[in-house]
Amino acid sequence: MIAPSLLSADFSNLSREFDWLNQSCADWIHLDVMDGVFVPNISFGFPVLKHLARLSQKPLDVHLMIVQPEKFIREVKDLGALVMNVHYEACTHLHRVVYQIKEAGMMAGVTLNPSTPVAALQDIVADVDLVLLMSVNPGFGGQKFIPHTVEKVKQLRRMIEETESRALIEVDGGVNLETGKLLRDAGADVLVAGNYVFGADNPMETCRRLRAL
Ligand code: DX5
Ligand code: ZN
Repeated sequence: MIAPSLLSADFSNLSREFDWLNQSCADWIHLDVMDGVFVPNISFGFPVLKHLARLSQKPLDVHLMIVQPEKFIREVKDLGALVMNVHYEACTHLHRVVYQIKEAGMMAGVTLNPSTPVAALQDIVADVDLVLLMSVNPGFGGQKFIPHTVEKVKQLRRMIEETESRALIEVDGGVNLETGKLLRDAGADVLVAGNYVFGADNPMETCRRLRAL
């Protein structure tokens, strides 16, 4: 699956962006929320997301790069989101947060920073619906892919099989046709792509080519 990240979209004309996104082969729309504390950047918050949710005819994949993400389960639910991603590094009581997200009726996603080993998920992977591996340090679009992520996808695929987890593997950061192919071959299910899609001459066709990998 492909989830274009809206972070690289033209924010001066979002309804035009959703015109093509809604007609594209994008499976989900990836929405990056940053608080300037967990990551060194601020993006947009719930007043903006509310409008984005109305424009989108695609399921929403919300990636919270914020401290204490458990405070916002209700807000994400009210957007009608399909997936709520919280960072492993931001949750002291991750097991509780995962179950609160599931009880709210959303897919529970746990996100790992590039420096967090896959092994950290051993005792939670069977409970989650999705694992989002960051292939750049979160905070900005358009960064360079960290190659070690391919190995992490393979490790995670093995862990998922061993634990009989049903988690999907999603990867976020620096995805293009080349890195996307490596990730796909390693066992990734969902690829997030921001700059590569929105910076392309033909975003819709770029999205289609990524999905066809
Ligand atoms: C980074 C965000 C990503 C970002 C990816 O902090 O989580 O979703 O938009 O952008 P690209 O594909 O440009 O690396
Ligand atoms: Zn993201």
